[in-house]
Amino acid sequence: MTDRYAVIGNPIAQSKSPLLHMAFARQFGHDIRYDPLLATHETFRDTVTRFMDEGGLGMNVTAPFKLDALRMADRLSPRAHDAQAVNTLKFEQDGIYGDNTDGIGLVTDIRERLGIELAGKRVLIVGAGGAARGIFLPLIESRPSYLLLVNRTADKAHAILGDRAQAGVLEAGPIAQAEGGAFDVVIHATFAGLTGGEVLMPEGIFAPGALAYDLSYDDQDTPFITDARRAGASQLSDGLGMLVAQGAESYQIWRGVRPEMLSVLNMLRPQ
Ligand code: ATR
Repeated sequence: MTDRYAVIGNPIAQSKSPLLHMAFARQFGHDIRYDPLLATHETFRDTVTRFMDEGGLGMNVTAPFKLDALRMADRLSPRAHDAQAVNTLKFEQDGIYGDNTDGIGLVTDIRERLGIELAGKRVLIVGAGGAARGIFLPLIESRPSYLLLVNRTADKAHAILGDRAQAGVLEAGPIAQAEGGAFDVVIHATFAGLTGGEVLMPEGIFAPGALAYDLSYDDQDTPFITDARRAGASQLSDGLGMLVAQGAESYQIWRGVRPEMLSVLNMLRPQ
């Protein structure tokens, strides 16, 4: 019997997740079907319930439903609880399990594909919305020497950090606080540039050899990547590798096997 999975979002037509998961399934000869599902906040719960009733086994959740999915889960992984956001649902006998694979996807992509170890590095995160929340705990766990979280609205950065703040090790603040910080890794986690606003990039944020990583991806350079190149970042990456890695992690949660990622990334990347 064909096993059913889906990704739910709004908009959803542009999602690469169906392609991604069908490619993973081919690696193992798994017989799966993976559909894009469109919903609104009003119809989210019914859409998920209907999919479960039809025998669906799992679902990826993308914007703007990661909080709706959190609320619908009966059990949460610690990282989903910390992020207060769910991107992976698994429908089990005894209820709905919610996890968040975004952060581990990012860390895996940086470590395995880009070959950069985060331990001991100076890391900057720009942005404090849902995307930043999703990556925060796995980044802390990768043991950077200094992690700074900045945001246009500084209060939101402080809220994510909570009582984990530790001067000189784990800090939050306004965007200007990053100025002159010479970071080894700068992660962009805002909508700025994509929604029309300017990317806010203080002077001196890139150390020699620094990586600039945008969680967004596009067929062309994202506005952040363009600005980071101009500002002297040595390595540039958009978030397509993270998309593949978070998907591989979801696939493993659902089916217990780990897909190979690089060939799938090459398939998704326009030549
Ligand atoms: P979500 O939680 O769904 O990810 P969000 O809370 O709107 O969405 O967060 C989006 C992020 O992009 C936030 O860090 C937001 O900054 P604020 O918290 O100050 O709103 C950031 N963002 C969006 N547009 C921006 C812009 N033009 N300039 C700077 N930051 C921007």
